[in-house]
Formats: sequence, structure tokens, C-alpha cells
Amino acid sequence: MNALSEIKYRFGQVLKEMVEDASDLLEMIRPAQDSKFGDYQANCAMPMKNLVGKSPRQIADEIISKLQIDDLCQSVEVAGPGFINLTLDDNWLKAKLTDSLQDPRLGIKPVQTPGTYVVDFSSPNVAKPMHVGHIRSTLIGDALSRTLRFVGHEVVTDNHLGDWGTQFGMIIYGYKHFVDKEAYANNSVEELGRLYKLVRQIMDYHTAVAKLPALHEQLTQQQNLLLELEANQPTGDKAIDKKLKKDIGRLKSKITEQEEQIAELESKIETIDRNQDQHARALKHKNIGTDVLNETAKLHSDDTENLALWNEFLPFCREDIKQIYDQLNIEFDYELGESFYHSRLAGVVDSLNEKGLSRESEGAICVFMDNYETPMIIRKKDGAFLYATTDLATIQYRVEKWQPTAILYVVDHRQHQHFEKLFDAARLWGHDDVEMTHVSFGTVLGDDGRPFKTRSGDTVGLQGLLDEAVQRAAQLSGELNSAMNEETLTEISKVVGIGGLKYADLSQNRSSDYKFSYEKMLALKGNTSTYLQYSYARVQGILRKGDVDIETLRSQPVAFRFEKEIERKLAVNLIRFGETLDEVLVDYKPNLLTTYLFDLAQTFSVFFENCPVLKSEDDHLKRSRLQLCDLTARTIEVGLSLLGIDVVEKM
Ligand code: ARG
Repeated sequence: MNALSEIKYRFGQVLKEMVEDASDLLEMIRPAQDSKFGDYQANCAMPMKNLVGKSPRQIADEIISKLQIDDLCQSVEVAGPGFINLTLDDNWLKAKLTDSLQDPRLGIKPVQTPGTYVVDFSSPNVAKPMHVGHIRSTLIGDALSRTLRFVGHEVVTDNHLGDWGTQFGMIIYGYKHFVDKEAYANNSVEELGRLYKLVRQIMDYHTAVAKLPALHEQLTQQQNLLLELEANQPTGDKAIDKKLKKDIGRLKSKITEQEEQIAELESKIETIDRNQDQHARALKHKNIGTDVLNETAKLHSDDTENLALWNEFLPFCREDIKQIYDQLNIEFDYELGESFYHSRLAGVVDSLNEKGLSRESEGAICVFMDNYETPMIIRKKDGAFLYATTDLATIQYRVEKWQPTAILYVVDHRQHQHFEKLFDAARLWGHDDVEMTHVSFGTVLGDDGRPFKTRSGDTVGLQGLLDEAVQRAAQLSGELNSAMNEETLTEISKVVGIGGLKYADLSQNRSSDYKFSYEKMLALKGNTSTYLQYSYARVQGILRKGDVDIETLRSQPVAFRFEKEIERKLAVNLIRFGETLDEVLVDYKPNLLTTYLFDLAQTFSVFFENCPVLKSEDDHLKRSRLQLCDLTARTIEVGLSLLGIDVVEKM
């Protein structure tokens, strides 16, 4: 057990005699904000006032008098109105550190009751290149899977590929009409990518052409209305004038939005107009929208030709995304895409019908649920199944195959409603004893605070993003160490570049949007993986310089010494690694781990400035400090590895 859970346990023993349910109160025991209040702080006496009918201070005194914690804490004090400040016992701390030093797992014991977690992440729609929108799911899902596994859970990672949707109708259509046979033979992946883009452009062109007139008309109306509103003179009545101002403001932002939408559509038209061949193609393929849908429908109804093409294309599509996963060092236990569930969908609908959970409405089959305005459609009027139907089949399959404790869906926040409905429907259907959580996340933004796009307005390809991160890291590494040979430089740039990209994402609170910036991502100072990798390499430098035999250092430890306050502070920081991992998994937030690691590296840096290591006063102190250095480096190494980030020995 780590210090925090041990303290909570000891408090629990006391609180259970005082209140019925202590769980919320135990959550109020936390690391102290400021070390002058000790190492941990329990604020549970305050809310107990009403439960127990005494003053918080009296309650705190009572808790302390009953608390058996002397072996773990050297001081427990009541402060202010009833805060309980706890300071860890130095001997306990030193014993814990010695334990960690000798243990490859840094003293972190596997959980007592391991669960099985299915983690559904990355899950791109294949047949089109991966783009920046896929990065967050891929990285957050990987980090959570690694962390769950490390703490001792069974983890099944499953890449729920979108391998059965309209995008295949698009490349089938593209292949039938526009394929360059020679290019396809030479580089199928690239040719399929080209076909996807081509069909996409023509489809967008026709949608834009169809939509624009109405949008222009709306814009004119809005502009006229604005002129009318602006012609109003102030009435002198504050309320009326204020409302007018507000209406004008609102209308103006509507107009800007409308103009932007129009500009976006016009640029789609321009893309085609700029290229004569494309223009001719677009005119020839006027019904491309419906035709593509027909190709998809034919695929779904097992049309021999389309199914054969799909079977031919799929391996290429997988190969394409695999290259990205390889660079990111991400693997999946399973890649059961949407197509895998195709044959189960009719059964899902039958089962829901039989249980009386779904019924026909306007030709479609729907699940009606309380609390929702609209039902969940599981079969369309034309017989087609939906995304939700596949997801229900997937839940059924996962539950049967793995009997999971939890299924985590690491997916964009925009799918929030889909998952809310899905989980409720699945529970009604009988899957009510498995945790289903939508681990949602915000959008990656560009400098301008809008979704990250290339200058021409296209989505940013993931491959290009990775390449640029690595290239910039090479530049940085070259500057840091100009004597480095080519091979080492390449290796380090990969680790630093990819690490920087991953860390920049994982260090954000996942629910928020964040601004993408190469500069910030690779900064040597600040909350970046570069800083952590640098701290790690710095320790390796010390160990090399001191010619330290690492095996002996770990296997024959000397008693730790805290000569200066900062050594103790570093020690407390180090032993918090385990509790940090627990915290990460409460709400599935990898950024709590990055915050911890950053804090640790900063504390280490202060330690290093204030405490000579190789030049310590005596050999015992030197060993004790080297032990602290080694533990810091290993905590950074393991911590980063849980985020999918590597370290290098030199930088
Ligand atoms: N392929 C989907 C998309 O790109 C994400 C799938 C997420 N997983 C799931 N089981 N629905 O939007």
C-alpha cells in the first residue's frame, strides 16, 4: 500500500465508528498543498460537524486520539478550525525508499483485486489517411492501457476500426471510375489515398454547389436585418437599448459564422475549378453522392464484386495505419473493426425486439428510452443498420468473450450523446454489471484557437505531424550536442520528437481543447517530456561520471540520510508515485501523472543545485544521494513509459 491509501485505511478504522459511510470523508485526505503543513492533510472533520454534533476541532482531536498511525507518521496535529496535518515518519520513509530501490516496480504492489478492462481506442475510420483528430484517442487510450496494466489489471486493447462505412463506398466508387492501374500496382496504399481524396473533393463540390444559393440568401436576409436594427436610434430606455445592442451583437456573430461557412464551401468549389480535369470529372459525376451510398449499400448486402474489392483494399488500409502505430510504438491486442460485427447486427435487433425494448416507428426500428427526446435508431427504414447497432453488438461480444469489469471508450467529446444512449440501452438489454465509460476529450486547436487545420483548410495529416516533430527534435538535439554522430542523433530525435508530441497531448486535462505548438512541445524548460528526458539523462551523466556500479547501488543500499530539507522533500515526492497512479485511474486522467513527474523533476533540480552528489562530504552521504538520483531517474523512466514515452541515456 502507498502512504496515502495506508493513511486512508487508518482513518477509515476510526471513522467507521463515528459515521455510517466514511468514503466521502476519506476522499478529503490529500497531499498537503504546502510542505509547512506536513506531508498530508485530512480535512474530514469539517463536514462531520453536522453528523456528529461537535465542533470540527473537537472531532479532529477525537479522531487523532483514536488514530493508530505512529509507525507511519511522526507527527499528527490539529490546525486552524480542525485540519489534521500529518507528517510521515522519516524512518518509514527511508524504509519505503530502500524497498523501492531494490524493486524494478519501484515498490508498487499490484492491485489486490485485479479487474479486466477493455480499452477501445484509436479506432479510426480506415481508407482515409489518419489525421490530427486521431491523435488524442490513440495516445490517451495507450497511456491508460499501460497504466492499468502496470498496476496489475488485465487489459484488452481493441482498435474498433471503422472498416465498413461510407469511406469504402467512396474508394470502391473511385476505383471503379478513376483508378490508375499502374499506380495501383506500384503503390496501392498511395493510389487508394488519392482515390479517396478525389472522390471526397467531387462529393464536397456538389454538396457545396447545392447548398450555396440558400446560404447566400440567408446571408442577405441577415445583412438586411442588421441594417434595420442599426438604423434604430437609442430610445433612452436602458433595457430596450441594451437589448438592441445585444441583438445586434448576436446577429453580427451569426453573420460572421455564415460568411465563414460560405467561404469554406466556396473554397471546395474552387479546388475543383482550379483543375480542368477535376472540373470535367465533377461535371460527369453529378450523382456521386447517391452513387457512393449505393456502392456502400451493395457492400453491406454482400454484393460479390464490392465485397471482393473490400477484401482487396482492407489490408492496404491497415498497412497504412500500421506505419503510424509503429512510429508511435503502439500495439493492440485486437483490431476487431466494425465489419467484424456485420453478421451479428440482425440478431441484435431481433433480441431487442423480443425483449420488448425496441419497436417500429415510421418504418425504422427504434429503442425508446426515458430521459431522451429522440429514440435510438437501430435499423433504418431501408434496412440498413447503424453505428449504434454495431456498438451494441460489440458490447455483447466483449462481455461474452472477456467478462470485463469495465469497457472504456476513448472517443472525442462530440460523441457524448451517442455513448450516453448506447450505455443506457445496453444496460436495459441486460449488460448492467459492467462499467461503461466514455473517456472523452476535447479538440486539438491551431494557433488561432480553431480546430487545427493546414493553411489550405485541410485536416492535418498525422504522418506529417510526426515527421515534423522528429525533424524539429533533430534540430534541437543537434544544437544541444553538436558532437553527436548521425545514428545517435536520429535515434534521439525520434525519442524526443515523438515523446514531445505525446506528452504535449497527455499533459492536457483531457476534457479541454488545447492549442498545438511545436515550440512549446519541445521546450527544454517547462512541463514537457524534453525536460523530463533531460532530467533522466542528467542522472545518467552523474552515474557515468562517478563510475557508479548501478547493480551494487541498488542491491546493497546504505541507509538514506536527509541532511537537507530538500532531500526529504524529494523522498516524499518519490514515494508518491504509487498514489499518483491510483489517482490517474479514478477519472482516467493521464495528465495527473505528467503533473506529478514535472513536480518530481523540479524538486530534483532544486536538490541537485543544493546538494553536491559526487562531491558529498562523506561516502555514506554520497551513496544516499546517488540512491535518490537513481530513484528519481527510474521513477521518471517508468512514469514516462506508462505514457508511452522513452528516455535516452544522453542528450
Ligand atoms: N470510428 C469512429 C470514429 O472515427 C470511432 C469509434 C469509437 N469506438 C466505438 N466503439 N464507437 O468516429
